[in-house]
Amino acid sequence: MKKILIMNGPNLSMLGKRDPKHYGSGTLQDLENACISKGIELGVEVVCFQSESESAIIRKLHTSMGVIDGIVLNAGAYTHYSIAIRDAIELIKIPVVEVHLSDIHNREDFRNRSVIEAVCVEQISGLGVKSYLVAMEKLVNQYMVRNDGEDALCGAQEAAKESEASGLLSEERVAIDAIDKEMLVLFERRMKHVDRIAKIKMKVGKETYAPSREQEILDKAAKGVDQDYAEAAQELMRELMRLSKERQSQIRNVSNED
Ligand code: DQA
Repeated sequence: MKKILIMNGPNLSMLGKRDPKHYGSGTLQDLENACISKGIELGVEVVCFQSESESAIIRKLHTSMGVIDGIVLNAGAYTHYSIAIRDAIELIKIPVVEVHLSDIHNREDFRNRSVIEAVCVEQISGLGVKSYLVAMEKLVNQYMVRNDGEDALCGAQEAAKESEASGLLSEERVAIDAIDKEMLVLFERRMKHVDRIAKIKMKVGKETYAPSREQEILDKAAKGVDQDYAEAAQELMRELMRLSKERQSQIRNVSNED
């Protein structure tokens, strides 16, 4: 789920006690609750943050990287002079909508100028709490859609990769099944030779595999395959010899019982 950060700067914690002509009568909590409800409607998670301090706001902007998808920022009076906040917004590469409860263009001259406007995707001012709600809609519908699109694209690419991989896997499994079938035929042929050898050795009273013969088989195994598989091939031959020995002693035991 996408995350939107609602950031409020200095003196916005005092909403409800500030001039209602500009800021209305609601508290910061009312404002944040309205944003949280809007978040539910838009299907995004809402995180709220307020600070009186420029450095805390900057730090919060920094730590939003990789965590937050869009920011609604009312920087309060910092709007008009904090180049440091401007620089932080610029570097985080997260869409930030600048908002104001009051209409900063129809108040004192010093409020007309926003130093953060150029690095924000939009400025919405003078709509009261609605400034925040419109900002959230814009983030979701205009500025965060690119990310959604990328996510969707990634999802489609992932699905295509998965289906290609599962196609390739099933081809490989079919090939392995065919090889196993051949190997079992060879295994059976080998075991039949083992049976015959066991009987011949019994006739002449000889032991089963001699250690030198075992080593010879292991050397051939290592040389008979690509170096990468040499150890595994020796392991396989050891196992085959173990099965052969087991088979030979079974045959001996059966004939001794007779
Ligand atoms: C404000 C406008 C700023 O000029 C002022 O300093 C604020 C609030 C607003 O929301 O209207 O603190 O950002």
